[in-house]
Amino acid sequence: MHRGKKRTPNDPCSFLSELEKSFELTREHLEEIILEFHHEMKRGLSGKESSLKMLPAFIDRACGKEEGKFMALDLGGTNFRVLQVDLSGDGKARKEHEEKYVIPKAIMHGTGVKLFDFIAQSIKQFIIYNNIGLENKINLGFTFSFPMKQSNISTGILINWTKGFTAKGVIGADVAKLLTTALKKHRLGNIEVAALANDTVGTLAAKSYEDHDCDMGIIFGTGTNACYREKISNIKKLKSSSEKGYMLINTEWGNFNKIRMTKYDVILDEATNNPGEQRMEKMISGMYLGEIARLILEEMIEDKCLFAKGKAKFSKGDFKTEHMSLIESDDSDKLLKIAEYLEGIGISDTSFEEREILKRVCGIVSKRAARISAAAISAIVTWMDPHLEHKHTIAIDGMLYEKYPHFRQLVAATLKEIHKDASEKINLTRAKDGSGIGVAVVAAVAALYRQ
Ligand code: BGC
Repeated sequence: MHRGKKRTPNDPCSFLSELEKSFELTREHLEEIILEFHHEMKRGLSGKESSLKMLPAFIDRACGKEEGKFMALDLGGTNFRVLQVDLSGDGKARKEHEEKYVIPKAIMHGTGVKLFDFIAQSIKQFIIYNNIGLENKINLGFTFSFPMKQSNISTGILINWTKGFTAKGVIGADVAKLLTTALKKHRLGNIEVAALANDTVGTLAAKSYEDHDCDMGIIFGTGTNACYREKISNIKKLKSSSEKGYMLINTEWGNFNKIRMTKYDVILDEATNNPGEQRMEKMISGMYLGEIARLILEEMIEDKCLFAKGKAKFSKGDFKTEHMSLIESDDSDKLLKIAEYLEGIGISDTSFEEREILKRVCGIVSKRAARISAAAISAIVTWMDPHLEHKHTIAIDGMLYEKYPHFRQLVAATLKEIHKDASEKINLTRAKDGSGIGVAVVAAVAALYRQ
């Protein structure tokens, strides 16, 4: 852990240069992260204790010929979605219907039975609203974006909750079974859970449906994670490891814990409902970046390095990644967008220098997130292909990647810094809605296997 030296109060310059140092990841740091990542991947694949769970997904990527109509569920953030997806068998997927349901806080933190009742009720509403007949069997793909241990494509045992979920009675249970029970209870017995997949697996599957070079799927959103294509013979913990072929592995990289922490990371971690877990996620993802920046700003205010004139305060939960995004997107000469935001939260008459400091703090936090992300991408790609001899399409979904100013560019620039010209082999592409469409593709791949 990095603790700062004693500072003179009221000196924003020295505060910021110390801050920069504690968040800095040099090329050497990145190389160390990559080495540690490989080490943890190897241990995770052979079933040894590791911060990377390396969970086999019991599915390979798509070939593009998969077809059929599927219902898809997406559970993993603050919204729950139900979709109807049509795959035409020529690499094209079409969303026929889509509805979003906000998960009430009481349900996220209540019991598993209530959570799955809520899911079944939402499906019922979806069916009625979209006039979907229940006479015939409906094949359903369930994107369940939490660490789960699978032993086949249609079952999965929740290992632990992440992203603030705490619903009781689900850890250790098969989520497909919980869903099936709730569906029957709500007279939706014709819906059959055909496939269960993590959102990263869905993202890879959806992209590979149209681009056959895709061998990695990533989410940079509320949480973060990646999956990739592994030789079955390398998955030593599988009984079938003597088989030929490939299987997708959900790395659960959000839990990687070999990156040095700053004092802000420690404070943030201790206040979560899963302390000690998801350490990398807590440095990267949308759920946490705002809180890291807020902790820094609060300390600056206390030290009289910022807004010393007034009574500014950023309380827990008030400063979100969306606010950082807004602040970093202000490229106006006088940083007036930032001024307007600050006025809106009751901090008026700010100086240009103060607004600049705010922007710089956000930049320091988001830059580290992007550099860690690039190191993790590099680790997985070089695990698959140590000398970067082949082209790798990487499908990426999530608001942070899509919307956060400069994040994408910083990830790409860091990959270039690490791999020089060979970074051209790493093709970062945006994958829209892998967690919606993707699981339909996964269900269709599974149906092809069964045939
Ligand atoms: C979960 C992963 C998920 C990621 C992105 C993490 O918190 O553990 O399973 O893929 O968030 O949604």
